[in-house]
Amino acid sequence: MKSLQDKIVKEGNVLSDQVLKVDSFLNHQVDPKLMKAIGQEFARRFADEKITKILTIESSGIAPSVMAGLELDVPVVFARKRQSLTLIENLYTADVHSFTKQETNRIAVSKSFITEEDHLLIIDDFLANGQAALGLLEIAEQAGASVAGIGIVIEKAFQNGRHLLLEKNVRVESLARVQSLADGKVTFAEGVLA
Ligand code: G4P
Ligand code: NA
Ligand code: NA
Repeated sequence: MKSLQDKIVKEGNVLSDQVLKVDSFLNHQVDPKLMKAIGQEFARRFADEKITKILTIESSGIAPSVMAGLELDVPVVFARKRQSLTLIENLYTADVHSFTKQETNRIAVSKSFITEEDHLLIIDDFLANGQAALGLLEIAEQAGASVAGIGIVIEKAFQNGRHLLLEKNVRVESLARVQSLADGKVTFAEGVLA
């Protein structure tokens, strides 16, 4: 997606050869027009799938998911990472390990909001080692819902998330695929789009 690539090149900060900081439009400040275009692109790619609901994870998955939900005219459910006072039972849960943070967090979704009738589109902001997406797939499986695929805003193609997801036979659609962050420079797997 060219407008996303352009934004990454213009505003992304390569913190190391592993980490891309995009706080100015995705992870802290959010660019609504870019999010709208991202939502439209996800909707276009999954247009034939009869999606009933989008499943994402707080916090940075929410903005692109809401825009995709608006476009597909379906609700958006986000898995919670922190214990909620009002969400205490009837939960689907999965344990998500972060290799970067070296910690495991339990994510949770109320059983009220995903059922076996659902055909889900899972969305997240980043695909790194795939652990969050695998956790969301596990929750979909517990609910008996089917999954049309996983939509990712920025994939780090040099990490093994895509590989782990493809092993589960799930479709992965990334709007930008970063092949390398070497020498402080972003290189895209899809090349520079015209
Ligand atoms: P990991 O094993 O490589 O750490 O991957 P994991 O999926 O556990 O990622 C941990 C957090 O870091 C996630 O956000 C993920 O989106 C984010 N992340 C991973 N790699 C990058 C990167 O290169 N750049 C940026 N900006 N984020 C990255 P989170 O902590 O759950 O935060 P949020 O969703 O609340 O923003
Ligand atoms: Na995230
Ligand atoms: Na994040």
